[in-house]
Amino acid sequence: MTDPIPLPRPDVASMSLNAALARRRSVREFSSQALSAEQLGALCWAAQGVTHPWGLRTAPSAGALYPLELYVATAEGAFRYLPREHALWRLTGEDLRPGICRAALGQDSIRQSAATFLFCGVTERTASKYGQRAGRYVLLEAGHAAQNLLLEAVALGLGAVPIGAFYDRQLRLLLDLRSGEAPLYLVAVGFPARS
Ligand SMILES: Cc1cc2nc3c(=O)[nH]c(=O)nc-3n(C[C@H](O)[C@H](O)[C@H](O)COP(=O)(O)O)c2cc1C
Repeated sequence: MTDPIPLPRPDVASMSLNAALARRRSVREFSSQALSAEQLGALCWAAQGVTHPWGLRTAPSAGALYPLELYVATAEGAFRYLPREHALWRLTGEDLRPGICRAALGQDSIRQSAATFLFCGVTERTASKYGQRAGRYVLLEAGHAAQNLLLEAVALGLGAVPIGAFYDRQLRLLLDLRSGEAPLYLVAVGFPARS
């Protein structure tokens, strides 16, 4: 029997990756401050941004087939993120956060958030190559992308909470999702409320 081998302590002196990992905590109460365009852009990029001329992204994807679609709802409306363009496509000028909050069992973190992100999955993109394993792969990818977003929020001095409890049908209707797009995961982001 050997003793456990101690690992070095992570460096948390600056906002290194380890600092962001160490500080990440689910935050559910936010101030009313809106995000800047830079912050919104950085969050979208962290989740699904393109980082390679071939279109490869910040988050890994089985077969580089990219089955995820990213939406964001703010006070200004609801948008789809376009990774190649690094731009937002406006779906509506309506504030959908209250509706998303209702679809998510009234979780107030969404109503309070400056931005609520929604990851959707289009399983058939991945199924074209991976058949029945596609469902599993798409869920794994949503986890990768959401974690990127959560860590970016920490690095920007923001708070965030991942949310899996919601009625799929209500979200589909609210965002008028295209056929084959399944809502998978929400992340509410904002400036942490002062305690
Ligand atoms: C798949 C998944 C679903 C979650 N769904 C919710 C949710 O619906 N509402 C919520 O407030 N937190 C939700 N959380 C956050 C967890 O409650 C939280 O991660 C856990 O309490 C640990 O706390 P920490 O994130 O601060 O480390 C979810 C987390 C995961 C991974």
